Amino acid sequence: MTKTDFKRHTVTAALPYANGPVHIGHLAGVYIPADIYVRYLRSRGEDVAFICGSDEHGMAITMRARKEGIDPQQIVDKYHGMIKKSFDQLGVSFDIYSRTSNSVHHETAQEFFKKLYKEGKFEERVSEQYFDEEAKQFLADRYITGTCPKCNHPSAYGDQCENCGTSLNPTDLINPKSTLTGNPPVLKETKHWYLPLQNYEKWLNQWIVEGHKNDWKPNVWGQCKSWIDGGLQPRAMTRDLDWGIQVPVQGADGKVLYVWFDAPIGYISATREWAAEKGIDWEPYWKDKDTKLVHFIGKDNIVFHCIIFPAILKAHGDYILPENVPANEFLNLENDKISTSRNWAVWLHEYLQELPGKQDVLRYALCANAPETKDNDFTWKDFQARNNSELVAILGNFVNRAVVLTHKYFEGKVPERGELFDIDREVLHALGQVPKKVGDSIERYRFREALAEMMDLARIGNKYLADTEPWKLIKTDEERVKSILNIALQLVANLAIVAEPFIPFSTAKLSDFINLGQLDWSVAGSDDLLKAGHELKQPQLLFEKIEDKTIEEQIQKLENTKKQNQMENKEVEVAPLKETIVFDDFMKLDLRVGTILEAKRVEKSNKLLQFLVDTGVDKRTILSGIAKHYSPEEMIGKQVTIVANLAPRPMMGTVSEGMILMAEDAEGNLRLIQPNENVNPGSTVS
Ligand code: 2FM
Ligand code: ZN
Repeated sequence: MTKTDFKRHTVTAALPYANGPVHIGHLAGVYIPADIYVRYLRSRGEDVAFICGSDEHGMAITMRARKEGIDPQQIVDKYHGMIKKSFDQLGVSFDIYSRTSNSVHHETAQEFFKKLYKEGKFEERVSEQYFDEEAKQFLADRYITGTCPKCNHPSAYGDQCENCGTSLNPTDLINPKSTLTGNPPVLKETKHWYLPLQNYEKWLNQWIVEGHKNDWKPNVWGQCKSWIDGGLQPRAMTRDLDWGIQVPVQGADGKVLYVWFDAPIGYISATREWAAEKGIDWEPYWKDKDTKLVHFIGKDNIVFHCIIFPAILKAHGDYILPENVPANEFLNLENDKISTSRNWAVWLHEYLQELPGKQDVLRYALCANAPETKDNDFTWKDFQARNNSELVAILGNFVNRAVVLTHKYFEGKVPERGELFDIDREVLHALGQVPKKVGDSIERYRFREALAEMMDLARIGNKYLADTEPWKLIKTDEERVKSILNIALQLVANLAIVAEPFIPFSTAKLSDFINLGQLDWSVAGSDDLLKAGHELKQPQLLFEKIEDKTIEEQIQKLENTKKQNQMENKEVEVAPLKETIVFDDFMKLDLRVGTILEAKRVEKSNKLLQFLVDTGVDKRTILSGIAKHYSPEEMIGKQVTIVANLAPRPMMGTVSEGMILMAEDAEGNLRLIQPNENVNPGSTVS
């Protein structure tokens, strides 16, 4: 049984790498849902620690520093400041936004490592790795280039050839060179400490696969299951790198903790720092069974938060485990994958500058469109429609009408309620239901649903005013208008409470002009939040229409990015047109949409994935060379376009009974050709 009664909550949001600014994909996937969740808990009076900070170690940082030609320290200082400020301006209400370069964190992570080391929880292993003798350092895979053994491309990396997509080991490269000095590296023995994940397999299986089948999101549970089923391997918890936290044991000079060992411990260090500032004890937030620990993350972090970090915590022994890890899928932008290298993103710091005062619009649009169960798309047109047709036309309009009419007819004082009619009773009944519905959805991590339920309250209010027409009745029945406006104002006050987690800037304004004071979820649903005679201030506009010009400017900005990218990629060759075919030739092709039921890697191949596909007419095996571009876990459930009448072909000891269609993007990644909307498996493509 899942535990439901907790004394306190520790809520973490993935620590963003301090190697670049935050974009809308991060916000929709992690930070906005986390903030809604935490604001809701606080409004209910719960004890919450909302923890985040910058992830300042690892290759993500050193690579960026090399690219910008400055020190890693300068990189993390620059981006930590920028990220912290923009989260703050968006109203993401962390209790602490710390950073992993500070001393509390270094100590915490080192203590953790030492305890595990002393208790013999690691395996020591020696292996041969490339070393640059001039730079006097071991080379991480990305710091070695050479000729690809598969396609002869002259600058493949130590982990992958970006030309042909083959995944490589550094020793596969022909004529390897260090990118630090240009010299050929030499192989040298090095020792590392591994966490034997295989020893935790059984326990993880029980805890996640059996224990959380029903309460974790299917995408998260499914990914964990497939990792565990695939068999876990020892994973090195140390690296040969000169940027990071020193490994605190003898004989580990020049070695640092693996960034995925130190970063999640960053949640604990940040909690310690926060508690020390408040003068309270941090330990219950991480060690008391009555604390509910929840990690908000993006889908690329699932294995680290559900398998590796829990195994580290288990090895330590004193810590609680997450109750849930509500990971989201990815957000695309205008039908294209968000990409830092192609500058294809809406950057938060730029948004805040270019659309000042519109924090809630972004929060609202991203929540309404959050990639909760599948990847989703952000478009500027949708953003505009969310604002103009929902925030302005529904929510803002209702609040404004109710408050303006009260000023007009009753000098801004909440009028007394008289005799009630069916329509009033129905509205009050609905009002009583909404907060619970919104709260339940939030507690189940269904933030889109929660948002829609909150908006229903404004819809109910608009309909109530439209049906009762107090502006007409005022001439004949002032008493009745008093009741109507009293009820409308109760809805307004309730809206201030239930909308707060989603749009806190607007509800702060609203609660100010209706003089509501502290927003408190425990009284939401009441039909008497504003007593008769309570005075209202003049209303302020909550939302403003966003004009086409503003949206066009943003679209133009993206168009410019696209042009820029095209110019930079102009040497990329476009394949020449093939020979013309007649219509009958085309008609011979049986193209249809299938759904991926199962997916797995193919033994001894780093290119192929094997699928079981529901073609509508049968379920068949298809092999496809996309292992570099998609993981088996993320393929399950996807609809793909297939050539269904291709003669079966033997591949790697299996027979492939069809082909999955794909296109290559500007970076040479293969992308699936998918229907824009879900269609029935077996639908023909013509
Ligand atoms: O993927 C990322 O951006 C990582 N920096 C997330 C780290 S989350 C945590 F473990 F610190
Ligand atoms: Zn290659």
